[in-house]
Amino acid sequence: MAAMMASITSELLFFLPFILLALLTFYTTTVAKCHGWRRTKKKRPNLPPGAPGWPLVGETFGYLRPHPATSVGTFMEQHVARYGKIYRSSLFGERTVVSADAGLNRYILQNEGRLFECSYPSSIGGILGKWSMLVLVGDKHREMRAISLNFLSSVRLRAVLLPEVERHTLLVLSSWPPSSSSSSSSSLGGAFSAQHEAKKFTFNLMAKNIMSMDPGEEETERLRREYITFMKGVVSAPLNFPGTAYWKALKSRAAILGVIETKMEERVQKMSRENSSEEEDDLLGWALKQSNLSKEQILDLLLSLLFAGHETSSMALALAIFFLEECPKAAQELREEHLKIARRQRSRGDSKLSWEDYKEMVFTQCVINETLRLGNVVRFLHRKVIRDVHYNGYDIPRGWKILPVLAAVHLDAALYDDPNSFNPWRWKSNAPCAAQTGSFMPYGGGPRLCAGSELAKLEIAIFLHHLVLNFRWELAEPDQAFVYPFVDFPKGLPIRVQRITQEGE
Ligand code: HEM
Ligand SMILES: *[C@@H]1O[C@H](CO)[C@@H](O)[C@H](O)[C@H]1NC(C)=O
Ligand SMILES: *[C@@H]1O[C@H](CO)[C@@H](O)[C@H](O)[C@H]1NC(C)=O
Ligand SMILES: *[C@@H]1O[C@H](CO)[C@@H](O)[C@H](O)[C@H]1NC(C)=O
Repeated sequence: MAAMMASITSELLFFLPFILLALLTFYTTTVAKCHGWRRTKKKRPNLPPGAPGWPLVGETFGYLRPHPATSVGTFMEQHVARYGKIYRSSLFGERTVVSADAGLNRYILQNEGRLFECSYPSSIGGILGKWSMLVLVGDKHREMRAISLNFLSSVRLRAVLLPEVERHTLLVLSSWPPSSSSSSSSSLGGAFSAQHEAKKFTFNLMAKNIMSMDPGEEETERLRREYITFMKGVVSAPLNFPGTAYWKALKSRAAILGVIETKMEERVQKMSRENSSEEEDDLLGWALKQSNLSKEQILDLLLSLLFAGHETSSMALALAIFFLEECPKAAQELREEHLKIARRQRSRGDSKLSWEDYKEMVFTQCVINETLRLGNVVRFLHRKVIRDVHYNGYDIPRGWKILPVLAAVHLDAALYDDPNSFNPWRWKSNAPCAAQTGSFMPYGGGPRLCAGSELAKLEIAIFLHHLVLNFRWELAEPDQAFVYPFVDFPKGLPIRVQRITQEGE
């Protein structure tokens, strides 16, 4: 999600003339600030090495150049080779330190609010709302975060979300092509976008759990269509005049908020009519009853959770489907793990997965970690330096931007053997594992650690369970995840599936 946000600024570049003035203003203030800093210290700061690049645009074009998701890209490779893992640059019109260093990344995330602060491009606030968790800082952030964590608590995860995740998984998979006849995969039809299916799955799940909207209903479908327009705006430049993606997205935002608002009013009425015996156990109900948030705040909260919880986990799921197809040995081991779980479940006479079943999905967790390590759904985060920082001999001045690049650490050959290959076995407990050193941070860290990481893992694991038990799949045509810098399969990951029958049935 964060990486996606970065790309808003990518389109920005194509509209440079419009923003030149703003940037110029920024430039002069930054230069002035640095002068002040130097004077008071009476010593040249030892900035990380680097090159400023072109005036204004700096090195932004190079930084944002699309590259395969399983690599760090040539810009990063060349800069790290020349300057080391911490370097300075000029990106998105700001003086920036880029960190591919595991230690510094951790330091940045742990010192949120003290030395560094979350700082996404302002267009994010425009589109997700000023009360969105991604733009709030300080106490307001903590308050919203507490509500999200409550909604995603482990108690709710077991009792409510697990059955919901399984139900939505089965719903999506049941729409997949039926058992192929003996001619099987020779038919050219039957290919469909796995990425699209993954998005449908996570969207329906979030819409249900946030405001009890059921999949397939007219209202839910309308919301989903609006949401797609909305997403295109999130990844575009903040130019608000008729016809631009941003303008359309702001209209979609209004339409989406309209739907949520209607839901909210219905709920308020219902709550006053009936007594509390029969209520939807969703985030909307909770926010209305248990919090003192204003209507505007609730709207932004629901919208940003829909966004945060939908794009990332669907992409992770699509990546897992992709990596497993390329690695039949892992798919086979995964299938064996899930067959064992399914057999146990059958002998219990249970038709649904239990939390204990989920806890048995050990290799699955290795697959999930490896997918996130290699695929890097969230490539880097946006932060601002709020106090002068000294790190490993470098001075990092207040007012600069700093980008912890999680992907660069996850693909670092010094930390992971053969980092560009998919190897879930590296996560097996007896293998030496970089997670112990704290360099694996797919969900960020510190006070802004992803609130939905446990839900994300649950979604992927349960989906994979039913996927490997019921289907074999192959790519219908070559496709590969790219970083734009948000991660996307250009062709939508087209797959063809073949239904398999479970052993012993
Ligand atoms: C594999 C899937 C996911 C990945 C890789 C992921 C990654 C991240 C990362 C890196 C951040 C930190 C952003 C920052 O520090 O600037 C974050 C924040 C967040 N994520 Fe996720 N996420 C995933 C799934 C989810 C899901 C399913 C939800 C649930 C609803 C969710 C909700 C959130 C929220 C609410 C925040 C903001 C937390 C805060 O600011 O306190 N995420 N996520
Ligand atoms: C709540 O509903 C029950 C029946 O569903 C009814 O007997 C009771 O009087 C109601 N309470 C209030 C406060 O409306
Ligand atoms: C909600 O109430 C708490 C104290 O009960 C207060 O600190 C907080 O500012 C309130 N939030 C809003 C949005 O009014
Ligand atoms: C996966 O990564 C997390 C860190 O996000 C770690 O705590 C966990 O132990 C890892 N799981 C496996 C199976 O290695």
